[in-house]
Formats: sequence, C-alpha cells, structure tokens
Amino acid sequence: MFLRSVTALCLGALVSFPSFVHAGASNSLMDVLPDGMLLVANPDNGTVTVVDTAAKKALREIKVGDKPEGVAWIGNGPLAAVTVFREDVVAFIDTRNGKVVNKLKVPNEPYGIITNKNSTRAWVTHDYPGTVTEIDLKEQKVIGEHKVGAFIRGIALSPKEDRLYVTEFYTGILHAVDLKDYKVVDSWKGHSTDNLCRNVVVHPRRPKAYLSHIRSKVDVIDGSGSIFPQLSICDLVPPNETRRRTSIGMDTYNNLHVVTNPWEAALSPDGKRLYTIYAATNDMNVNAVIDDDYKEIERVGNAIQIGKLPKAIRVSADGKQVYIYHTMDFSVGIYDANMRSQGSVKVCDPPKTPEWVRGKVLFSQAFQPMTGPRWIACSSCHPDGLSDGRVWRNPEGLRKTPSMFGMAHTHPLHYSADRDEVQDFEYTIRGRLMQGRGLVPGAIKPKMGFKPVELDEPLAGRSKDLDALAIYSNSFEFTTLSPHILAPGKLTETAERGKKLFFSKEVNCASCHSGPYYTDSSLAVKPFKLHDVGTGKDDPGEKMGPKYDTPSLLGVYRTAPYLHHGTAKTLRDVLTTCNKGDKHGKTSHLKSEEIDDLVDFLKALPYEYPPYETPNTVKYRVPVKKEEKD
Ligand code: HEC
Ligand code: HEC
Repeated sequence: MFLRSVTALCLGALVSFPSFVHAGASNSLMDVLPDGMLLVANPDNGTVTVVDTAAKKALREIKVGDKPEGVAWIGNGPLAAVTVFREDVVAFIDTRNGKVVNKLKVPNEPYGIITNKNSTRAWVTHDYPGTVTEIDLKEQKVIGEHKVGAFIRGIALSPKEDRLYVTEFYTGILHAVDLKDYKVVDSWKGHSTDNLCRNVVVHPRRPKAYLSHIRSKVDVIDGSGSIFPQLSICDLVPPNETRRRTSIGMDTYNNLHVVTNPWEAALSPDGKRLYTIYAATNDMNVNAVIDDDYKEIERVGNAIQIGKLPKAIRVSADGKQVYIYHTMDFSVGIYDANMRSQGSVKVCDPPKTPEWVRGKVLFSQAFQPMTGPRWIACSSCHPDGLSDGRVWRNPEGLRKTPSMFGMAHTHPLHYSADRDEVQDFEYTIRGRLMQGRGLVPGAIKPKMGFKPVELDEPLAGRSKDLDALAIYSNSFEFTTLSPHILAPGKLTETAERGKKLFFSKEVNCASCHSGPYYTDSSLAVKPFKLHDVGTGKDDPGEKMGPKYDTPSLLGVYRTAPYLHHGTAKTLRDVLTTCNKGDKHGKTSHLKSEEIDDLVDFLKALPYEYPPYETPNTVKYRVPVKKEEKD
C-alpha cells in the first residue's frame, strides 16, 4: 500500500503528461473533434446529432435507441460509439451517412463511454451492476467485464492511458482502475453525504481529478439545508495519506449565490481553465485552475446564466470555443473561451408532448415557483425518476426515496398513502423542503400535523403547470427487464422455485404484492389499503405507522436499502432479520436455500413487460401510442 503510493509519486514527478486533452477521455453527452465536429446524444429522443460547429449547423440526427447516455468519437471519426442505456447496447454510428453500422450487445445499463487516442479501445461504465467493460474497437467486440464498485457512471482515462478513473453515482467515490489487470488500485472516498456523481475529468498535466456532485443531508428537511452543490478534487498521486480529496461548496464559492445540481465539468486543453455547469439553476462558472494543492481553483467573474437544464459541456481542441448542451432548449450553445455567446444550434425536436417537456423543466429547476432558496429541485432526489439512494428523516419518520418507475399504475402515493395524485406535491413545493411559491393560484387547505388533508384537496386540473409536473412524474415505465433473467419471460431455475414460494398460500406474498406491478395499491378501495408488516416499531421518530402502503416489487434488484426506513440492507434481510414475527409473509419456516430462491425471484422482477394500462392507471400521463402498447 505505502510502497505503491511512493512509486506513484516518483513516476508522477518524472513523467510529463501530454499537453492536450483528448476529447473522448471523459464521459459526456457530447464529444468534439479537433476540426469542430460535435456529437450530441439526446437521451429523451433516442438520437445522436452531428453538429458542424464551424458552420453552426446540425448536419444530421441519427436514431440510436432508448436513452443514449454517452458518446465518444473513435479517433478523428467518422465512426463514433454511443452507449444506449436502456437497450444494453453500444451503437457504432457512421456520422457521414447517419447509419448505425453495428449494435453491440453489452452488459446491463451502459452509461459513460471513452475511447483511447489510437482508436483501439473503448471503455464503458455500467450503472447497475457497477462494472466496466473493455471494448476492442477494431473487432467491435466486448473483451472483458470487470466489477469495480456500485452504480459506476463517470469515467475518465489517465493522460498516460494506464488507468481508468471511475465514479460511483450514489457515493461520489472515485476509483482508480489499473488497466493491466483491472484491479481497483486506489479509491478516494468523500463525505458520507456525497451523492449523484456521474462525471469525472482528469487534468492534462497535473495529477488531479474533478468531480461534480451534490451532498444529500438526510437529517435536514429544509429548503436551505438539505442539498449542497459540490466540486470535489482528488490528488491522483497522493502527497500523503491524509489529504487526498478536497471538496468545494459551490454555493459559498459563489459568494452565497446558490448554484444547484453540479452536473459536469470540462477543462481547457492547456489545463488552465475549468468550466463547471449546474443543471438546476441553469448557470455555470468559469474557473482558473491554480497550480497549488490548497486553493485548487479560483472563480473568474460571477456565475453565468445559460440555457435550460445544461447537462454537458466540452471545450474545443484549440481551447477557443466552449459548447454547452441546454437539454431543455434542445440546443447547443456555442461560446468563446470567456463565455461570450457565438450562437446556438438546435439539435433535436422536443420529445413526447409539450406538457411532458414543461413537467420535466419544472421538476428539474431550483428556483421559483418550485423553490425559493434555490438549493433543491425535485430532480435532486429523483434523478431521471430514479431514487437518490437515500433514506430521509422526514417529519413523519424515516422515508426512503422510492423509484418512480411504474408509478402511474401504483397510486396512492407515499408509504402512508396520504396522497392520491401527483398534484398533491403542491404541498411539498410550498412546504419546508422546497419553500416555493407553488403552481396553483390562491390558497390550498392548510396542512396541520400529519393529517392527510391532501386527500380532501383535489388539485388536478387547477394549474396547467402542476398537471404537467404530474404528467412528467407519471411517465417512467418499465420498458426494460431485470438483468437477472435468462430471456424475457424466462426465469433461472432458482428464481422459478422462488416464484412458487412467492405465490404459495403458505408464504403468501402475493396476497399483498398482487397484480402485474406486485402491489395491491388501489385508488378504488377507500380508505386506502395499508398493512402492518411489523416494520413500524423500528424508528422511534415514526409518526404515521405502523401500517404502510404495499410497494411495487418491480426493479427491486437495484433499489437497496429496503423498507420505508431502509433498515433492510438486502432483500434477504427483508425476509429474515426484518421479519421475525412472520407478519410480513410467512418466512420463518423456510430453509436458507428457500430464502435464496425467493430472493432470486425478487431480483428477476420484472421478467416480463408489465401493461401500460391497468384498472388503477391514472389519467395524467403521456398518451400511449397504439404501436407502443402492442
Ligand atoms: C429531499 C429529497 C426529495 C425531494 C427534493 C423531493 N422528493 Fe419526492 N420523495 C422523497 C422521499 C423520501 C419520498 C418518499 C416519501 C414517503 O413515501 O412518505 C418521496 C416520494 C415522492 C413521490 C411518491 C412516490 C410513490 O411511489 O409513492 C412522488 C410522486 C414524489 N416524491 C415527487 C416529488 C416531486 C414532484 C418533487 C418536487 C416538487 C419531489 N418529490 C421532491 C424525496 C424527495
Ligand atoms: C400483508 C401484506 C404483505 C405481505 C403478505 C407481504 N408484503 Fe412485502 N410489503 C408490504 C408492505 C406494506 C411493505 C412496506 C413495508 C415498509 O416499508 O415498512 C412491503 C415491503 C416489501 C419489500 C421491500 C420493498 C422495498 O422497495 O423496500 C419487499 C422486498 C417485500 N415486501 C417482499 C415481500 C415478500 C417476498 C413477501 C412474502 C414473503 C411479502 N413481501 C409479503 C406488504 C406485504
């Protein structure tokens, strides 16, 4: 351990780094060539747009599949590689004619992608299960998959191309992976509250990595104390064992001008400038990189207002232009190095419906009418409808942030079923957490204590914006299946045995986890069904238990920890240590192998596509097209 860092230090001092940033060396929705050809991945449209930045023109838009999350040029083009997150493929595209030349099957949830300089290799991060794959670009073949951590998203290549640096989405941990044997040789852990880190950039000359992320302070439910914007800087050649990672609060950094949801950063090719973008306040910073190990960066001027929901930034090879993808303007802004606008290029049409787009805009913004203090957006805790992986100490007790997938079919909402429509989140917007003006004109019934007044206050149809927020929130569907199955509809042998137990009269899981979404939640039966499954006594701060709404079980393979208070770290815990009295299905008589089988079945959900329409499906959602249904 010690020996290795000493060796690394000597090497770092002796070897000079190449003095340019190879564009594809860190993950992003954009990548740019020295000649100015820019690729832009549009996750909501399923396309990649080729932009000629010199002519300020979009040349073509290429259909690649459901939710592209990363794009990288291969050498100087014309081929490029795109990770298609929800289809588990890397699409190879020919940018001259707009053709997809190959769809390479890769492991689950490909997210970030980078390529090396001589175009022989690409590396891809896989969010779940937390692996990195190595791809041979000549053969267009996966040549290895390596477990690196949990929920791996960000990826960057060291200037010497001997290491990968990757980030964990839910912890912000940076791992160094040695490319000789794919061992994790070093890790930089930040604060225990570090969260949502999906990008890392490495300095071209100095051994530094820059990570954009937030901090989620789960014990504080307050508009100005729950979420913080951070930029963490890691010393890749640790000078000593103690000071290896610094984190700058980008709010105080900006003289208390709050910026929200730091999303990505980019370095100028000479490494003298760092550009940081903030997705929820639609602004950015230009920073001078200081060649020291203390101050690290210095703000050049104030935060600069940019377009809506900026999610990617790149600098041209000559350092003279900066490109920012304003995802909810559907355009790329072109700027000079000092952020003077030189125009913008439209890259795609708004997807789905205008209401969905409006809903996403509101969901992702940290300013009025959603919130006053500017620290929080709905998306800070529900990124792209996923969980933030946290258990929050809400006034009513500990509450885990649920995933929103399938939510249109599983109303009522909240563990306590105290909300029957997404429009009820007007109460969240106006409450202590968001402190926003709200979207509905006039007053709403005051909330006193924990009485579910939301249920007596119909809010749907009273504000176009609030309805749009509901339409966006209800839009996340299970269009992908669990990676823990053999084929669609086909379970492994153990999961098949688990399924029998699950549906058996004796174990009785299906009495509550029923129907295609594995929940008996229903808006039709009033008062709403709640069950005491023996989980209500564990949290002394609980104010609304001990009965809870049955959660859906689809997708639980990737949503640990479990139960409303997150006490169960694994699915096995749900069925064993957290079910001592057999109140949560009868499990105490099961042999250890039978519990394993049951867990394997839970991990296989969904193993077939659940319906888009059930008797319990709500009205406020994107209309389902006929061909998508079949
Ligand atoms: C600080 C983190 C945080 C923020 C910010 C936040 N939420 Fe949540 N959200 C949670 C947690 C935790 C729960 C679970 C609460 C419960 O079940 O009682 C939740 C539950 C929900 C649910 C119910 C899901 C279900 O299936 O029951 C919806 C819908 C929702 N949030 C929408 C929103 C919207 C809209 C916003 C912005 C106005 C928002 N949230 C802001 C943490 C957050
Ligand atoms: C009496 C109704 C009922 C029965 C029977 C039941 N559950 Fe549940 N289940 C619930 C409720 C309610 C919760 C939420 C409890 C909480 O969060 O404290 C839950 C939570 C869960 C969770 C955690 C989900 C998450 O995302 O946190 C899992 C997994 C689960 N149940 C699996 C099972 C299995 C497997 C069985 C059969 C052994 C079973 N349940 C039987 C009602 C039931």
